[in-house]
Amino acid sequence: MLAIIGGTGLSQLANLDVPRQQVVRTPYGEPSGPLTFGSIRGAPVVFLPRHGYGHTIPPHQVNYRANLWALKEQGASAVVSVASVGGIRGDLGPGKIVIPHQIIDYTWGRMNTFFEDEAPVQHIDFTEPYGADLRARLLAAAKACGEEIVDGAVYAAMQGPRLESAAEINRLERDGADIVGMTGMPEAALAREIDLDYAAIAVVVNHAAGRGASARGISLKEIEDVLEAAMHRVRNIIEVLAAP
Ligand code: HPA
Repeated sequence: MLAIIGGTGLSQLANLDVPRQQVVRTPYGEPSGPLTFGSIRGAPVVFLPRHGYGHTIPPHQVNYRANLWALKEQGASAVVSVASVGGIRGDLGPGKIVIPHQIIDYTWGRMNTFFEDEAPVQHIDFTEPYGADLRARLLAAAKACGEEIVDGAVYAAMQGPRLESAAEINRLERDGADIVGMTGMPEAALAREIDLDYAAIAVVVNHAAGRGASARGISLKEIEDVLEAAMHRVRNIIEVLAAP
């Protein structure tokens, strides 16, 4: 079953047929909310809004472990993460939809592993942090929707909840990052730890701090407007992904 973790701007999947909600408890505490089960043209889907249904949980307080554990336990085999991001690379302006292929993790203080007391110590391979097949399916679904989306970007996961300084964005660019968000990690690594296929669809909602229209500041109102306009495109892509 396909799982969707909705990000900012996507706290409901309006196109789910016969939705039903279920509270799931995990050894890691409470997920961001009850899981919503439903189907898209007959294909079963489970949805969870990362920040809660009322968007109340900030990026650094999301219980990433409980979210992924709950989805896995309820039968998910693949997870598509929806995320809003700032664009660092010049061509990645507001409204662009990007399927990242790499991550750099700058977060700290988050519960970032399921392997707490394992003996022997467990490591995962994370050379390719996103599932190649799932990425390809997302790209194909976008194409089928007539959406021009960007294949490949390096996602910088920042701690938040504040946005970055211009100098921090310059540093991220020197590090090779193309887009910047706050929720990509530890989510991607936790998914890998429990064998969940994982890919992300990122919506650029602003130029990163100090860049383009954000040269002197980031307009939060503008972010909302872009999100609103972009999320129905994301919903369409997910619909085709779930039921091609
Ligand atoms: N920085 C970090 N996270 C974000 C941004 C940004 O500019 N835009 C949306 N999420």
